[in-house]
Amino acid sequence: MNNVIQKNLSYKKYVIDSKLRYFKPHASKIEKTFAEEISTTLSNDPKFIAPKFFYDKKGSELFEKICGLPEYYPTMTEIQILKTVCGELNDYLDESFRLVELGSGASVKTRLILDAFFSLQKTTEYFPIDISEILTESSEMLLRDYDRLSITGIIDTYEGGLKFLRNYDDRKNLIVFLGSSFGNFSPSDGEDFLKTVNSTMKSGDLLLIGLDLVKDKQILESAYDDSIGVTAQFNLNVLSRINDELDADFDLSNFSHYSVYNDEHRRIEMYLKSLVRQSVIISKSNIRLDLEKDELIHTEYSHKYSLEQIRILLEGTGFRINRTWVDDQKYFSLTLASKF
Ligand code: AVJ
Repeated sequence: MNNVIQKNLSYKKYVIDSKLRYFKPHASKIEKTFAEEISTTLSNDPKFIAPKFFYDKKGSELFEKICGLPEYYPTMTEIQILKTVCGELNDYLDESFRLVELGSGASVKTRLILDAFFSLQKTTEYFPIDISEILTESSEMLLRDYDRLSITGIIDTYEGGLKFLRNYDDRKNLIVFLGSSFGNFSPSDGEDFLKTVNSTMKSGDLLLIGLDLVKDKQILESAYDDSIGVTAQFNLNVLSRINDELDADFDLSNFSHYSVYNDEHRRIEMYLKSLVRQSVIISKSNIRLDLEKDELIHTEYSHKYSLEQIRILLEGTGFRINRTWVDDQKYFSLTLASKF
């Protein structure tokens, strides 16, 4: 226990009860990083706002709404595959594993995986890592529903959470990274990230990663530009967040949601398009942003993969694939891998 605190002075520790504690960087540090990062990326060409900033309270709610949209196939497809996976996961686990989840969000899919753990152990330790405050609510809801659970949450970036996990203890970890959140990384950042995950793992640890597959362009494009405009709201919400948290004056009616599938790079690209020539002040980032009419601010990449690419990616970053599952339509994949 004391060790944990010693090694992580940069986190504030919150003990809610005997079954729930979480760690969060100090508020001043979070605001400073946000302001600085925005000032850097909005000075890039093209201007960029990192997708991790989508997830304030409102943004996390909007994302949960996206997951329920008929056009957004990834969530329902992954849940369907997970039902098969979880029946077979016990073959790879034993009573010494804990469950670690990167980007746990509302922890909906987690419930399916927990069932596999409960069939093997009396109490299960769950270690969610998420940049959004939603983690605390999700954890409290899980504890209300499962009494054989104890939770240690890290409210931070993946990198921060993984650093926390490194040398944490001797227990084996099943690290799950679902929803194709990995698709946000550029190919080279993705490789670096998987190497970091790999170096965090002990031999015997496992990674379960959910990745979206290349498919018909129409299906992809409507998944990221739904008919009732929730994805548009989700994209635009990052500007409201910057207004609120960094004292900026974005007028949301001067921007529109734009997304397109890039065949060459096999990715959905999301942007906020400036509808007029305008200037915006972001006080806490100390910048004035000048935008031309029709200029695009890049907000997200969502890469799509082939099974062959997934194999090359994992084998090239120190993993050995145990098993890959896909749905009947081959829309989405889940791969279980171990440290090589
Ligand atoms: C959370 C990154 C997996 O890329 O599909 C959904 C985010 N953006 N609709 C994705 C998202 C627009 C989502 N990930």
